[in-house]
Amino acid sequence: MLSSEELRKEFLDFFSQKGHRIVPSSSLIPYDDPSVLFTTAGMQQFKPYYSSKLDPLKDKHFSLSEPLGTRNVASCQKCFRTTDIDSVGDASHLTFFEMLGNFSFGGYFKKEAIKYAWEFISTILHIPKERIYVTVFQGDDEIPFDDVSYKAWLQLGLSPKKILRGNRKDNFWGPTGQEGPCGPTTEIYVDGIEIWNLVFNEYYQSPDKKLTPLQIKGVDTGMGLERLTLVMEFPKDKEKTIFDTDLFRNALEILRKHSSNKVPSEKNLRIIADHLRATIFLISEGVRPSNTDRGYIVRRLIRRIARCIKAESLSGEWMTEVIDFFINKYKKAYPSLKSQEQIERIIQEEIDKFQKSLEKGLKIWQKLLRELKNNQQKIVPGDKAFFLYETYGFPLEFIKELAREENLQIDEVGFRKLYQQHQQVSRAGASQKFGGHGVNTIEDEEKRRKIIKLHTATHLLLQALRQILGDTIEQRGSDINAERLRLDFPFARKLSREELQKVEDLVNRKIQEGLSVIHYEMPLNEALKSGAIATFTERYPDVVTVYEIKNSRTGEVFSKEICAGPHVQNTKEIGVFKILKEESVGRGLRRIRATIEDDL
Ligand code: SER
Repeated sequence: MLSSEELRKEFLDFFSQKGHRIVPSSSLIPYDDPSVLFTTAGMQQFKPYYSSKLDPLKDKHFSLSEPLGTRNVASCQKCFRTTDIDSVGDASHLTFFEMLGNFSFGGYFKKEAIKYAWEFISTILHIPKERIYVTVFQGDDEIPFDDVSYKAWLQLGLSPKKILRGNRKDNFWGPTGQEGPCGPTTEIYVDGIEIWNLVFNEYYQSPDKKLTPLQIKGVDTGMGLERLTLVMEFPKDKEKTIFDTDLFRNALEILRKHSSNKVPSEKNLRIIADHLRATIFLISEGVRPSNTDRGYIVRRLIRRIARCIKAESLSGEWMTEVIDFFINKYKKAYPSLKSQEQIERIIQEEIDKFQKSLEKGLKIWQKLLRELKNNQQKIVPGDKAFFLYETYGFPLEFIKELAREENLQIDEVGFRKLYQQHQQVSRAGASQKFGGHGVNTIEDEEKRRKIIKLHTATHLLLQALRQILGDTIEQRGSDINAERLRLDFPFARKLSREELQKVEDLVNRKIQEGLSVIHYEMPLNEALKSGAIATFTERYPDVVTVYEIKNSRTGEVFSKEICAGPHVQNTKEIGVFKILKEESVGRGLRRIRATIEDDL
């Protein structure tokens, strides 16, 4: 029987043998694309090849520092889908998952893609035919029946009874967003579970929903590793779920062991396991709990974990054990995962911060429930829900979940009205932040923001020094607190006043230019080859995160460093950069202290 690790490897080996280039997973944070929060599919990093915006043979792939060099690639991609957060807890939904995929941009099309899929399933995985059926697009007014796929399956020996026809909703994919490549799909089911989706991009859908045939036809397939592991580990066993597979089993066991409930709630345990696993990956990519965007998603995940911990009265070293389990499970495939200590500290800090509010808020909620029941009301008034949000930091989705459990609904219109009013007031108010939960939280949050800004400023400073004093300048030490940054670098003499002024001016110019700060993962040797600055003398993992500070209009890159983050998204956020002091610290090393001020 193949484990999840072996399945991942078998898949990539198979497609490698079929002449595909294996491309590492891209970051969960999409490259240079502020319109989407997270990476949700394997095709995302290849999107420009489908619409011919990039040529796989000529244009540099954003993280490989060279063109793909082939029209056929395969990957195992980390994905995170926010749409499923609230369904987690049942048998099949996850937030984080891995997607195995093979892709072609004008290399091969339907017949070959179906043949590859069939060969992998029958000769590598040895799944017997009787457990399989497939679906193909049945056609509608606009798009014809996909008879090429239908015939391809027939030719491989599937009986017509096993080739079902699906409509536009089920067997047509894309585009993601307003416009983009899209096309019919053929889907493979094992034991009734959809495991593999083969998308054939033949059309480009414009924002007015018009379809035009694509010049280059593309293949985009996606197979969920968790589901594949399930059908491989438990053939034809309807009782088992993804949480019983090797990817989760031990985590659930640890949680069960530490629950103080006589009958632990599987739903709560699954939520904790899924959300922890996702949080481990997101934190490792530099996302931290906060009140905006990605940070808020992590905050929501951790706050939901906190509630489930309380419901299960978990105690003891369970979190260390569960995080350890996941890190060990994944560190070979994803060497850039952060350490258990670091991840646990961040999660625990967020839980601790939320703990008191959670307890008080839940008491208020209980009281509110009694009132509603006494009055036979089924709707939670918007102002009551908003009170839980504003005063106790309960995310809206979280309040909705509490309500659902009691068969209640929330007056969301009322809630949103108050939210908007509050936001306007906050904007008008001085530095009071929206959704701040107590002064300390605001202070912590502001300190953290300042440190992040100083961190990006350090990258700008290092590059500015290299431009003005020469490429021999490298970082020998760095220390950042909420007040200032400190950077040590080798240089034989004192810097002149003019040099310091030039450095300061250059950094401020780059801040003013509003450069984008983007990051992505790539193999270490590729990163070094591409000229990314390696800062520390420590050993790097095989796959590293590279931060680029670049002009997103011209594509011109100012700074490129191997770094774990986090950073601001745009240099404009930094404010005004000021050098405070330059001095010698012996051994031919110079030290610069600098700070930033708000740009008013
Ligand atoms: N893009 C398709 C999906 O998300 C196949 O990879 O299912």
